[in-house]
Amino acid sequence: MTSSSIGIGLAGLGTVGSGVAQTLSENAELIAQRTGGISLHIARALVKNSGRAREIDINNDLIITDPDEFVNDPDVSIVVELIGGTSAAFDLVAASLRAGKPVVTGNKALLAERGEELFQLSRTHKAPIYFEAAVAGGIPIIKAVQESLVGNHIQSMTGIINGTSNYILERMTEGGLQYPEALAEAKELGYAEADETLDVNGWDAAHKAILLATLAYGFSIDPAQIYVRGIEMVRPIDINFAKELGYVIKLLCIVRQHENGAVEIRTQPSFIPQNHILASVNGVFNAVALKGDKLGDSLFYGRGAGQNPTASSAVADIIEAARGLRNADTSRGFLPYKDSGTLIPIDDTQTAYYVRFDVTDEPGVVAKIATVLADKGIGISGTHSPANPNDPDADFVDMVFRLHTCSFGLLRDTLLKIEELSCVNSRPVVFRIETL
Ligand code: HSE
Repeated sequence: MTSSSIGIGLAGLGTVGSGVAQTLSENAELIAQRTGGISLHIARALVKNSGRAREIDINNDLIITDPDEFVNDPDVSIVVELIGGTSAAFDLVAASLRAGKPVVTGNKALLAERGEELFQLSRTHKAPIYFEAAVAGGIPIIKAVQESLVGNHIQSMTGIINGTSNYILERMTEGGLQYPEALAEAKELGYAEADETLDVNGWDAAHKAILLATLAYGFSIDPAQIYVRGIEMVRPIDINFAKELGYVIKLLCIVRQHENGAVEIRTQPSFIPQNHILASVNGVFNAVALKGDKLGDSLFYGRGAGQNPTASSAVADIIEAARGLRNADTSRGFLPYKDSGTLIPIDDTQTAYYVRFDVTDEPGVVAKIATVLADKGIGISGTHSPANPNDPDADFVDMVFRLHTCSFGLLRDTLLKIEELSCVNSRPVVFRIETL
């Protein structure tokens, strides 16, 4: 190790941590050439269990389990947090910032849930936080919003930003897999979070949307204020019905600023037209369709999860942190410029809808549901209930309605009334139909 080599403290040697160590080692010469001689080495690796078999070759003497020893090691100049979660990771990042050490993290849950405190520490201690790896894997969307588009009002960002759920939806759509099989594949491929519930319940994508919105609009966003639904309730019937109607189902994040300055943020499975560019974003790929007042429309596309794409972003941040050690710049990260902002209440948002009801097949069931919808002034653009081709008289259980555009609040009230009907057996499942 040369004396001018910068020591990296790598917390977490899982999928992404191993990818970072490999990339730093395999591309060391290239990195030095392209940065005017920056040399980096792993000074310490922090793990929970030092005896565990690793997928990378790392000097065992570097591996430790004590976070204090890790942060305070004088050879650790940059801390890379890839352990995930919001508790131990918070303590580690906070301690690093207090020690004046720049932090690179891929932890969107941590920044979306507890970022305000951490960015404050970052400013106080003049230790930047870099988080390109936290949003959309290998796509450089954070840098784009923070730097390349800093002179634009960001009007909207519509994104597919969870690779796991996008992979699952594609395997269900094209491969005919059931949900649990598709999820098992995504885990096997290293796309899912350690806690995969965040991938499928929409929160991983929502955390990323919060970070993008925070950067674009300058105020901290309370996760409790935003509307989030995941893909757990998507069934083959929905996928097939979407196809028949000319749509595909995607877990979509919508972030947009309305003319009065209020910001709409929501994450939910949505029908999007098959001919829209986001409809062709498949598998682990992510995309963010971004509109800026000066740039106009743009599309950021690439692998949104997985070892190498995420390591690619983390390594770029490590190099930026290394450059910053020479010339510290704490205006990166999140620089709030508004104390607060207004979010659009979800009940005020408007789209058309697809609603699936689990019903008892009895005479008049369609009419009963349609009557409640009509009483509330919600128009119906179509109804459908898949029949058993071998037995046209067999009972049906699923009844699907396509509804005209109305506010989500009106829809919600109306569905509560419909749920009271004795022929409706469980909570209706709602998908938005987006025109984009
Ligand atoms: N689990 C995440 C995803 C990884 O599937 O998108 C990248 O954040």
